[in-house]
Amino acid sequence: MKKVGILTGGGDCPGLNAVIRASVRYAVKEGYQVIGIKNGWKGLIENDMTELGLQSVSGILPKGGTILGTSRTNPYKKEDDIKRVRENFKKMGLDALIAIGGEDTLGVANKLYKEGFNVVGAPKTIDNDLSCTDVTFGFDTAINIVTEAIDRLHTTAESHHRVMVVEVMGRHAGWIALESGIAGGADMILIPEIPVDIEEVCESIKKRHSRGKTFSIVVVAEGAQFKKGSMVLQEEKLDAFGHVRLGGIGQRIGDEIEKRTGYETRVTVLGHLQRGGTPTAFDRVLGTRFGIKAMELVLKKDFGKMASLQGSKIVAVPLDAAVSELKTVDMEFYNIAKIFFG
Ligand code: F6P
Repeated sequence: MKKVGILTGGGDCPGLNAVIRASVRYAVKEGYQVIGIKNGWKGLIENDMTELGLQSVSGILPKGGTILGTSRTNPYKKEDDIKRVRENFKKMGLDALIAIGGEDTLGVANKLYKEGFNVVGAPKTIDNDLSCTDVTFGFDTAINIVTEAIDRLHTTAESHHRVMVVEVMGRHAGWIALESGIAGGADMILIPEIPVDIEEVCESIKKRHSRGKTFSIVVVAEGAQFKKGSMVLQEEKLDAFGHVRLGGIGQRIGDEIEKRTGYETRVTVLGHLQRGGTPTAFDRVLGTRFGIKAMELVLKKDFGKMASLQGSKIVAVPLDAAVSELKTVDMEFYNIAKIFFG
């Protein structure tokens, strides 16, 4: 019996279980044995695995998170770790591996593929910053959560005549801020791709208030930075992939707005709420399609590829291209949002 491994790595994300379920269902149908690797690459280092059958994936479609657990482990950081990954891959007799993750997890998948291992990928992240796919699963759920939060903040902002600043995730890409900001009717959207000119932001809010509006909603991406400054960090410590922890820009922006305009301002940081809970129907369907495609690539022995959405079609793209550069916000798209500023 052929064996396929499956793992989920990096930040968790709604829709992961839909991908796992789809790959397992398809694999079992094709006579494969499926090995679930626990906690991302950590499970391959520690040989922490469990067999997945039809029963293990029953009822998981609407569940957030991942039944396999996850971690931000980079096995290439220590020679000993990657050695164990190679050994365990062989020891377990895996014919192929499906890695579900974002740029970090798929970056490792790509390196392993280049070493000669049979690996394919499925693109996950709420940040939507992976290249070669129109969208990653998890993003739709995240922007729906943020849009609902903005709607709720609107009513309290209006009642109290306040400026409400909402800080959202997305790392170095402004996709979550942009799309939820447009959907929620934000009066200003600040993204990492464009340095923040705080004077301009305040002028724009003042202009809006001079038209008779007594409240404003400002959506700011955690990776946004001031024109002549650096990123605001929660801590300087780097994770295994060399990423800093972002966060705190919302409060800085809020303080400046209140100081410079005199309007009462409050700040909401949505944080991990954006990654939790049940996936939207869109993410369940996209995750299912990605899971089937990933298993199809295994069956066809078309390794080193990632399932991707292009237009309405699910296609295969090289992992190498998908992880080579970050997909940041398209300025034509941002210009649409700007029409509604201030
Ligand atoms: O990549 C997903 C993401 O949620 C980013 O938007 C955010 O910067 C980061 O992960 C937070 O990481 P952690 O869960 O380790 O705090």
